[in-house]
Amino acid sequence: MSEPQPIYLSDYRPPAYRVTHAELTFDLDPAATRVKARLHVERHPQREAGASLELEGEQLTLRSIAIDGQPLGEEEYKIGGTGLTVHRVPETFLLDTEVEIAPDDNTALSGLYRSSGMYCTQCEAEGFRRITFYPDRPDVMATFSTTVIGDAASLPVLLSNGNPVERGELPGGRHFVTWDDPHPKPSYLFALVAGDLKKIEDRFTTMSGRDVTLQLWVEEENLDKTEHAMASLKRAMTWDEETYGREYDLDLFMIVAVNDFNMGAMENKGLNIFNSAAVLTHPHTATDAAFQRVESIVAHEYFHNWSGNRVTCRDWFQLSLKEGFTVFRDQCFSADINSAPVKRIEDVSFFRTAQFAEDAGPTAHPVRPDHYIEIGNFYTLTIYEKGAQIVRMLSNLVGEAAFRRGSDLYFSRFDGQAVTIEDFVDCMAEASGEDLGQFLLWYSQAGTPEIDAHGEYDYANAEYRLILRQRTPATPGQSEKQALHIPVRLGLVGTKSGRDLPLTLDGEALGTDAVIHLREDEQEFLFTDVSEAPVPSLLRDFSAPVKLHFPYGREDLAFLQAHDSDGFNRWDAGQRLALLALDDLIAAHRNGVEKVMDSRVVDAFRGLLEAQIDDKAVLAQMLTLPSEAYIAEQQPLVDVDAIHAARTFVRQSLALALRDDFLRIIEENRSDAPYAPEPEQIAARSLKNVALSYLMAIEDEAGLEIAQQQFAADRNMTDVRHALTLMVHSSRSDIADPALKTFGERWAHDRLVMDQWFSLQVTRPQADVLDRVKFLMEHPAFSLKNPNRVRALIGTFANQNPVNFHRDDGAGYRLLADTVIELNRLNPEIAARLITPLTRWARFDEARQELMRAELERIRAEELSPNVYEVVEKALA
Ligand code: PHE
Ligand code: ZN
Repeated sequence: MSEPQPIYLSDYRPPAYRVTHAELTFDLDPAATRVKARLHVERHPQREAGASLELEGEQLTLRSIAIDGQPLGEEEYKIGGTGLTVHRVPETFLLDTEVEIAPDDNTALSGLYRSSGMYCTQCEAEGFRRITFYPDRPDVMATFSTTVIGDAASLPVLLSNGNPVERGELPGGRHFVTWDDPHPKPSYLFALVAGDLKKIEDRFTTMSGRDVTLQLWVEEENLDKTEHAMASLKRAMTWDEETYGREYDLDLFMIVAVNDFNMGAMENKGLNIFNSAAVLTHPHTATDAAFQRVESIVAHEYFHNWSGNRVTCRDWFQLSLKEGFTVFRDQCFSADINSAPVKRIEDVSFFRTAQFAEDAGPTAHPVRPDHYIEIGNFYTLTIYEKGAQIVRMLSNLVGEAAFRRGSDLYFSRFDGQAVTIEDFVDCMAEASGEDLGQFLLWYSQAGTPEIDAHGEYDYANAEYRLILRQRTPATPGQSEKQALHIPVRLGLVGTKSGRDLPLTLDGEALGTDAVIHLREDEQEFLFTDVSEAPVPSLLRDFSAPVKLHFPYGREDLAFLQAHDSDGFNRWDAGQRLALLALDDLIAAHRNGVEKVMDSRVVDAFRGLLEAQIDDKAVLAQMLTLPSEAYIAEQQPLVDVDAIHAARTFVRQSLALALRDDFLRIIEENRSDAPYAPEPEQIAARSLKNVALSYLMAIEDEAGLEIAQQQFAADRNMTDVRHALTLMVHSSRSDIADPALKTFGERWAHDRLVMDQWFSLQVTRPQADVLDRVKFLMEHPAFSLKNPNRVRALIGTFANQNPVNFHRDDGAGYRLLADTVIELNRLNPEIAARLITPLTRWARFDEARQELMRAELERIRAEELSPNVYEVVEKALA
């Protein structure tokens, strides 16, 4: 087998031929579905005449092919390579093909497949070529007319994009529905669903008065889990009208829930398909976090209707054009309807843990990559989350009003087109008059920039001198880096007054909170008229996706935590303070020295608990220590055992010192009110549960009692799951085991709850957990064919149980590699994703490095899918 070859951005050319209209007919059958395609094809005006017609196609059995009604002889076309080639074609013509495909054999979940008896499709990025021969690239945009034929009894519901225009009975108990989608779209937005589904329906009137029917299609037993998603959809529709002036453009909007899905959800035109985990909620089956996740994903997919569908990507290198922008949009939406500071804290914590690690590892890539082997490997945190951070910087750079003018310009200028990241940034430059030339480097340069900052206060002259130096570490294929344009939002907090001081820079008064622009490798900023010694509060609200180093003393951090006017930085100061203490404890653990708790951390926590902070959600965040993964991210070499021991020690010390405060918090935040996924309730629950975690860290008798009661009271999944997790993670198997059993039996029928049942067991810190993972893999409810299960069990173990995954005998690595090898055959996309923790070998000690690399080598020796090949090659390069 020849090695898979990379595709380069610099090789981009428009397609030789485009499709203006596609008429598809599906005759559904599990083993032999027939797909007829009539494509209206014309030569691309920018391409020369006489080129061959190249269509992508994979795992298709061709039954017939004709041009303008004339069947082609075998010598007139060729099947091979990536699809079908027809050598001589007219300038404009009709192409008819008929192919056969086997949905039941499709375990990759790309193209047309069956899930719990229903048919569904997934076409992004390159799944449409597994349905029919087609120029399967996003710059080919066609209108679609789709007829779906299926068995009337088992498949009463037949859906596709657009509006239903015709339906009828057919002989042999079959029936059909024809759908028309008037909006030209790339093939990756095509969708089809057929099954025995039930719906809830609602209506929405758009700002121009268009009446839209909203439908959410699910299996019957899930009808009671749809309300929240529907309400979220309506909120998202209103928000996009108010915030971006964008309204919906069809008479019907549908969401379908499926159980087997590689990702969260998919924005197919008018027919969004969702992983059931990303849409179904019920107070008894979904946690607060799940409710919020559903809300944001429903919004995300809906927002794609403009940022992605009406204006789409020219090629897959531009993926962040739609994803970065849409993530930014969904983040703002969630911030607007929930607690904005908490949303920012959550997003940034996740970003700094996971995206920073990606950007520092062997698969690091720019937000706009310049080559790839398998685009499926590029649905990454860099494309999505760093892409969103870049759009956020843009919005801050040009200001809200210009950003809105820029987005209006973008949507109107490029409506119905497939465009590039430059097109987007150009609109922002045009609308604002800003020069964004240097800013564009954010898209092409990989790696996390680091800023080394230091400052001096000159008492005599009342000046504060701030020096910022930037550097971006080398990443694979990019050894030299250029200086980026980095917006640094800051304030100077007076140490006497505890207030933000007025900022004067180069004689210009900037208020008390301002953005300075770092564009050079090193720059000095001299603030004048600084009336008292300040502590600088830098990178407020995480104004750029960088690592900021400033030699803060612990007193400075405690001061900022108490006084910073920026909520995000107040939280971050607490995190930095905790990290300094954790550093000492990690060193103590490694050196076998007795651990001593830093009293300043205890005092800071006591201060928080006594300060009557009224935003409970923020308080809960401030009481939460950095995760083991984030602590690891700060270490030069990751020692999972020392990190776990140090963090446990801090939790226990805080619990011992502040036990009564934690008990009081639990008392104050208990409630019998009926569950609602609303900010106030969510905040109270999170605060109470953080406090309970501390008590359980010392297995306090009162805490154990509360956890058991909370589990038994069965008020909502947030409380039940939290209590159960704490019990299962404790040493008290006498109370954990029966609870786990009760829970497992009660919810055996519910996949989404069972996913949680699997996950919460394999995050246990105890050493026996690997055996439990193996045991659970044999559980009748476990299947490698269901991505949610694989993520819940194997993914959770490998990513969220560092101590056990990194066992020094390598057994955790072996288990992961075995799973990857099996999944490589079944579902390459999921297999490639699952390898991630092994690719981070360079962060560990030599013995572990060797064990991890050995497992990667063992994977490499297999016959690999392009997906797994690309990741493993990079990891071992
Ligand atoms: N485009 C989808 C989203 O972000 C993600 C996705 C990618 C889903 C590829 C399926 C396959 O919103
Ligand atoms: Zn998206």
